[in-house]
Amino acid sequence: MNATQPLTHSVGIILAAGHGSRMRSRIPKPLHTAAGKELIRYPVDLLTKCGIKNIVVVASPSNLASLTAVVGDTVQYVVQPTADGTADAVSWGLSALDYAPELVMVMAADTPLVRAKSLRLLIDEHTSVPNRRMTILTATDVFAPDLGRIERVAPGDPSAVGPVAAIVEARDRGDDSASFEPAEVNTGVYCFDGPWLSRNLGSIPRAPSGELYLTALTKLAAQAGDEVVAAPFAWADEAMGVNDRQQLSAVSTVLQDRINSHWMLEGVTIIDPATTYIDADVTIGMDTVIRPNTMLSGQTIIGEECEIGPNSVIHDSVVGERCSVVASTVEESSIHADVSIGPYSHLRPQSVIERGVHLGNYVEVKNSRIGSSSAAGHFSYLGDADIGPGVNIGAGAITCNYDGVSKHRTTVEAGSFIGCDTMLIAPVTVGARALTGAGSVVTKDVPPAGRVAGVPARLLAPPDEE
Ligand code: UD1
Ligand code: CA
Repeated sequence: MNATQPLTHSVGIILAAGHGSRMRSRIPKPLHTAAGKELIRYPVDLLTKCGIKNIVVVASPSNLASLTAVVGDTVQYVVQPTADGTADAVSWGLSALDYAPELVMVMAADTPLVRAKSLRLLIDEHTSVPNRRMTILTATDVFAPDLGRIERVAPGDPSAVGPVAAIVEARDRGDDSASFEPAEVNTGVYCFDGPWLSRNLGSIPRAPSGELYLTALTKLAAQAGDEVVAAPFAWADEAMGVNDRQQLSAVSTVLQDRINSHWMLEGVTIIDPATTYIDADVTIGMDTVIRPNTMLSGQTIIGEECEIGPNSVIHDSVVGERCSVVASTVEESSIHADVSIGPYSHLRPQSVIERGVHLGNYVEVKNSRIGSSSAAGHFSYLGDADIGPGVNIGAGAITCNYDGVSKHRTTVEAGSFIGCDTMLIAPVTVGARALTGAGSVVTKDVPPAGRVAGVPARLLAPPDEE
């Protein structure tokens, strides 16, 4: 069968109800992020991509609300009341269904490196044989002392698809020397025949730790003469789970490498991948160049032919085509095409920078719109401001938006010239094509084409009357 087609009568169960105690965190493990994306979203996206339409997330009583907030209502949820082991979690997952699935896929919420390609191979392998009971995605020759180790019926060629005698769990094998050798390991991703799984889950004995292990099904099946197959399609890195913060860091490094490679293959130049951090949800246009020490995070979109960095941070923002952002920070803002920013500027949330604007050195913008082709070249603060098109903001000009109690807006209309060191005491409006002299403290509105200067600024006579 073709696994990219929607699989009917199938369900994907994601186990996310464990204690995650090795993280030593107040944050539930599935909500920790790797490459800016919550761990729980990796298996949800992966199963969806591979055609599994029905997904059940097994949550704990304490993380249900936060998982729901992150994943939303495209999946079903069920609560496992106590973390009694992975087999118990799967039983709870099945209990949430009002149908009997033919194919059940199970995976953990803490293995974000599993690739769609491996999952598709696993599904194809499982469904290639009628009545296959259980197929396990494994990786061979992996050094991972904390993972379940595969014991094959006929040890020999571990790269071959073949029957499994047992999975020996790390916590139950003590520190026998084989635990510290590379081995074939369980990635925690499985395909099951639905009816067989339902019949057998209840027969699993408790492990020495007191838990009910899903992996104990291998031994049960072997004893009953049911074939369980290990499919060694996963690369070694896919087996990496996140049990503690060191593993979170190791997994993040692999993700960063994959994401950088992806964008380079899409036509983005990354000068120094080792110091470039691009989150999973970011997109970047062709022929953009990312310079060293740059972080593109959250839901950021970068257009084509941009020059980003060195030393830039862009978070949850949209950057249009042909922009440059040098050594600057941009947060929750929208930058139109042909804008140049930096070095050392800071766009704070809700800023909209229209086409062709130049914001040079040390310019801070917050909750403001800067009209097309306007420029603020040198150390300014533009907060709560509406700056029209074609405005020149002189060096040191500042919107004094806060009176100690409330914030007020400043409006500067099209074509105005704001002289160096002008203080605009908000609320205030400078009309179109008006001019403020250097050092003005503008406390009152300036009419269109008006010229003001002084402290406080006063209206000067038109030039031809002087
Ligand atoms: C598990 C496997 C191991 C495999 C490894 C792959 C078992 C017994 N062991 O070990 O063979 O190599 O994954 O990463 O399955 N969970 C629940 N409810 C529970 C217990 C766990 O939902 O009662 C969830 C956890 O939140 C986690 C997943 O199941 O997402 C796996 O549990 P974890 O404790 O991390 O198992 P490992 O020790 O990593
Ligand atoms: Ca784990």
